[in-house]
Amino acid sequence: MNREEIDQLLAEINELKCKTQKEIEEARVRFLGKKGEVTRLFEEFRSVAPEMKKEFGKTLNELKQTVSNKIEEMKSSVGEEKSSAGSGQDLSMPGDPFELGSRHPVSIVRQEIVDIFRKFGYDVAEGPEIEDDYHVFEALNFPPNHPARDMQDTFFVSGGHLNPLLLRTHTSSVQVRAMEKMGLPIRVICPGRVFRNEAISARAHCIFHQIEGLYIDENVTFADLKQAILLFAREMFGPETQIRMRPSFFPFTEPSAEVDVSCNICHGQGCNVCKGTGWLEILGCGMVDPNVLEASGIDSKKYSGFAFGMGIERIAMLKWRVNDLRHYFENDMRFLKEFNTSTEV
Ligand code: PHE
Repeated sequence: MNREEIDQLLAEINELKCKTQKEIEEARVRFLGKKGEVTRLFEEFRSVAPEMKKEFGKTLNELKQTVSNKIEEMKSSVGEEKSSAGSGQDLSMPGDPFELGSRHPVSIVRQEIVDIFRKFGYDVAEGPEIEDDYHVFEALNFPPNHPARDMQDTFFVSGGHLNPLLLRTHTSSVQVRAMEKMGLPIRVICPGRVFRNEAISARAHCIFHQIEGLYIDENVTFADLKQAILLFAREMFGPETQIRMRPSFFPFTEPSAEVDVSCNICHGQGCNVCKGTGWLEILGCGMVDPNVLEASGIDSKKYSGFAFGMGIERIAMLKWRVNDLRHYFENDMRFLKEFNTSTEV
């Protein structure tokens, strides 16, 4: 330790200019912190020759006092500047509005459908989008040469003749996984994205979303299916809604039906949305084929069940009278803003 060193430190401290509280804190640590310069001098002071102690002791104490004063002074003046009107900021100005994003219409409708079935006691199950042939087709009673397995409809991810990987074409694959894993009775809905090799048009897309449902227990009948669909349709489209069922075919259900709801725009009078029929098709359904139950190890003599499946975009199109499915995938802000349910904060 020598005089020059102390003088130099003093000069540095006097010239110190900090603009923010953070800089002041850094300066405090640099001089007065545990490993700070002033603290180091105090440690060195211990080994100073006794005859010099008096003089150095006094100077060191003055140095420490100067640093502390300077730091306190800067602390209060930087604070003052911040709140003074001369800082160039008008603190009375309104803040910039912070815009929240809004939910996508498909996600809004999916949530609405999920909420309805949750009320009926259904759980939500999810599964992989890249699936194997077994869960998408074989376990669902698709014969080996069924056209749905064809390259026309299915995007294959890998070859492999026995059980190729593919993009699921429906979320029925999640129902198969539910039957394998969950104990009975089963009551699930499976929302998710599905893929089909279709030409993109106003009514079809290669990616869309489905919600499928499955209910398996003892003594489940077609009447239960009808009641579940009717209750759903009334919750979704209004209490006046009627349903009708038309015979159909799916490999995994027997008997199978296509469900229409009464057109909630013209109330059955006939309009251009329902093409003059008064009815709108919303979903496919049926009683789970015993072969499907057995494939997943469920005793088809004791248990029965129903399944149904619907396209979320289709329900959204009916709900909001959007006549082109492609709008849901183009992410045009003008379209998406129509569904803005969020509030600005
Ligand atoms: N999985 C069928 C589809 O994708 C829909 C469906 C589900 C039909 C359940 C009947 C029962 O078209």
